[in-house]
Amino acid sequence: MSSSVPNKIPAAGLAVRGFTVSYPGRAEAVGPIALSVPQGAICSVIGPSGCGKSTLLRAAAGLLGAYEGEIAFGGQPLAGSGAVIGLVPQNYGLLPWKTAEANITTALGIARPGLGRREKREAAARWLGLMGIGELADRYPARMSGGQQQRVAVARAFALEPDLLLLDEPFSALDALTREALQERFLANWEAYPATALFVTHDVEEAILLGGIIAVLPPSGAGSPLLLDNPVSGLAPGERRTSAVFFEMTRTVRKAMADLW
Ligand SMILES: Nc1ncnc2c1ncn2[C@@H]1O[C@H](COP(=O)(O)OP(=O)(O)OP(=O)(O)O)[C@@H](O)[C@H]1O
Ligand SMILES: [Mg+2]
Repeated sequence: MSSSVPNKIPAAGLAVRGFTVSYPGRAEAVGPIALSVPQGAICSVIGPSGCGKSTLLRAAAGLLGAYEGEIAFGGQPLAGSGAVIGLVPQNYGLLPWKTAEANITTALGIARPGLGRREKREAAARWLGLMGIGELADRYPARMSGGQQQRVAVARAFALEPDLLLLDEPFSALDALTREALQERFLANWEAYPATALFVTHDVEEAILLGGIIAVLPPSGAGSPLLLDNPVSGLAPGERRTSAVFFEMTRTVRKAMADLW
């Protein structure tokens, strides 16, 4: 990792600088990606397929072997910072040999080793309930729908009460009504536990509804992301969808996409 500009890393929040990945067998590198997210803010990340969104989230979660550039959290390299990270991978990332409940208690056992068995089970039950799938606690992933697996993955990430939340299209497999309900639930959860969050989505309205900042990523190799402050995030969640500023922001983001992609 480069350390050429350590003095510029902000003391709080997430900072990504010059993030570039060369996959074996792929001619062009992914990136470069630069963005910064203040502590406790949600950054919606929107970008064309293949631009490197999942690659960035995997790297931030410590799941990618090698990359160039810096990913810092709270002023120090994220790896080794001790930050608790909640990841919802694009493919849900559930352990197939464990039930919904055990997927959550296992993750809690790793991230929060001080918790007792009963506390972990209670946390699992509570978060599965909040995601509307409390009755699936004993179900294995192979016997759940994609949307149900996705909700287990979101419940698992929130149950950790993480410092950094990384969500890779977490609501993509849900029907419109369940999705809207879980967007509201997500905001309520986040208000209760305001983790710094990267929320990847292909849905412009979802990006605007949830993000305090919106990062519009260009295709890989085509320049830097555009970071937009989102005035909609200043409104109460219940008022966002119908506000004039929401429609104005929709136009702004669509124009940025048209310009960058
Ligand atoms: N393990 C890998 N080996 C080689 N190339 C990879 C690997 N993983 C991803 N890539 C390539 O890197 C690029 C970025 O992939 P990534 O999954 O990060 O894109 P994305 O922005 O998440 O796309 P999508 O919106 O489709 O999920 C793509 O061109 C992809 O084919
Ligand atoms: Mg992806």
